[in-house]
Amino acid sequence: MRLDRFLAETTELTRSLAKRAVQRGEVNVNGVRIKQAATQVAPTDRVEWQGQRLELVGLRYVMLHKPVDVECSARRGLYPRAVDLIDLPRPERLQVVGRLDVDTTGLVLLTDDGQWSHRITSPRRRCPKVYHATLADPLAGEALTQAVERFAEGILLEGEEKPTLPAKLAMQDSHTAELTIHEGRYHQVKRMFAALGNRVVALHRHSVGPLELGGLEQGQWRELRDEEIIAF
Ligand code: URA
Repeated sequence: MRLDRFLAETTELTRSLAKRAVQRGEVNVNGVRIKQAATQVAPTDRVEWQGQRLELVGLRYVMLHKPVDVECSARRGLYPRAVDLIDLPRPERLQVVGRLDVDTTGLVLLTDDGQWSHRITSPRRRCPKVYHATLADPLAGEALTQAVERFAEGILLEGEEKPTLPAKLAMQDSHTAELTIHEGRYHQVKRMFAALGNRVVALHRHSVGPLELGGLEQGQWRELRDEEIIAF
């Protein structure tokens, strides 16, 4: 890998700032000052900038139990971001795989592997995501039968032209729905229940594909095991 790219991958510097830092003679490779940005370096080379050894972080795969009032967005806003809860080097490189709303809790995956992320979020792959929704109004009897059918057929959300993919609805009690969807449109679960004339007052993502939170408490995270990574 080129030295300027190595620097950009391992620091906050952009590629052009990294190039300039090398050209200014700020970078040592194996103890020798190198000023040519195109110099090739191997992962085993000792690259130092500002007196610190730089190391490539590789691809990471993480699950987080997201609490309310945490944002999945990459930009800093009103609330702490999901990546701010992850205590790994260069957490800002991690991307959320399928965002949750700020008031939704539950399973969030983060990774710096864009292809893996795409396999989970692409509607073509039909990766199931299970949500538990607390509803403002009870859903039972004939209304429930109709809702199950409408969701199974696909429902047209307000402002959209394509119906949702078939989804599975089951009730845990009169106000608690378990909904399995295979895509991730904007506010999808809330909008699906709104289309029935109901309202989601609390929402939790229970699982993504075969992955569940297990014993992770809100705010806790862990790296995925190999078999969990290759499940997608
Ligand atoms: N659907 C929603 O409405 N909100 C979420 O956070 C996730 C799915």
